[in-house]
Amino acid sequence: MEATEYIWMDGALVPWNEAQVHVLSHGLHYGTGAFEGIRAYDAVEGTAVFRLTDHMARLARSSKALGIPFEYTVDDLVEAAKELMRVNKLRSGYIRPITFFGTGSMGLNPAGANVHMIIAAWEWGTYLGEDGVANGIRVAVSSWRRIGHNASMPDAKGTGGYVNSVLAKTAALKAGYDEALFLNTDGLVAEGSGENLFMVRNGLVHTPPASAGVLDGITRDSVTRLLQEDGYTIKESAITRTDLYYADEVFLTGTAAEVTPVREIDDRPVGDGKPGPITRRAQELFVGVVTGKLDLHPEWREYI
Ligand SMILES: Cc1ncc(COP(=O)(O)O)c(C=O)c1O
Repeated sequence: MEATEYIWMDGALVPWNEAQVHVLSHGLHYGTGAFEGIRAYDAVEGTAVFRLTDHMARLARSSKALGIPFEYTVDDLVEAAKELMRVNKLRSGYIRPITFFGTGSMGLNPAGANVHMIIAAWEWGTYLGEDGVANGIRVAVSSWRRIGHNASMPDAKGTGGYVNSVLAKTAALKAGYDEALFLNTDGLVAEGSGENLFMVRNGLVHTPPASAGVLDGITRDSVTRLLQEDGYTIKESAITRTDLYYADEVFLTGTAAEVTPVREIDDRPVGDGKPGPITRRAQELFVGVVTGKLDLHPEWREYI
């Protein structure tokens, strides 16, 4: 990761190396925070942050669900993120807002702790590799189950929930795969460690519903709408592991992963082992929209 000049911290721009918090921050000890991952693209008409307002609105929702006081408006944070991109002279990159409980309480109850809000931005290439985007990645169903609605909130982007993702991701990489797929505690397919999942079978596109224990991904929503507008039928469906083995196409979506084809699941080729036509179309539409090369959904490109 390459440092940039400034980080926005609690309302002010501070030099990258000076953006520090206390070791007794509640969020560090108990994972009491919420965050976002956002991408900005070097688009046709300048630097466009993709669905920036929707990401900041999700940060507000996650904070509400997790009981973290939210002291800014979504509009304030949108402006702060744009300013940060400008002062760091970034034409494209990744934006990471995070809010968490700081010092003032060391019991589990965070009451009395102050709340920080930080936004960082830096340059970031493809998350699952250029080859992965072009030819597909190899994934394995994880032995870890996705945190469920009975234990936490998989549909809130809370920092503590990501221990679950880190365990699955690192195990998958150690076993030689590119990414992990989570089943939920009912044995149904949920999502990747940091991506939503789509599956194509007999021309229909399926994705697990929020009730399966997935994050309501902004890329998932974008790809769903773009494919629907292109004439495809997308269904929120319960998906089993066997469904994945029978699938014609599988792809993952996420801010980091964008649209990444899956070419193999548990050592079985997906379809003929090459990215299929609907996956290719989803990639084409997504890249076209984020860069403004396709004149669709201009409201999603928030120029800095
Ligand atoms: C667990 C998980 N699922 C799905 C996603 C995809 O969400 P989005 O498309 O909003 O980045 C992410 C990334 O934020 C994630 O961490």
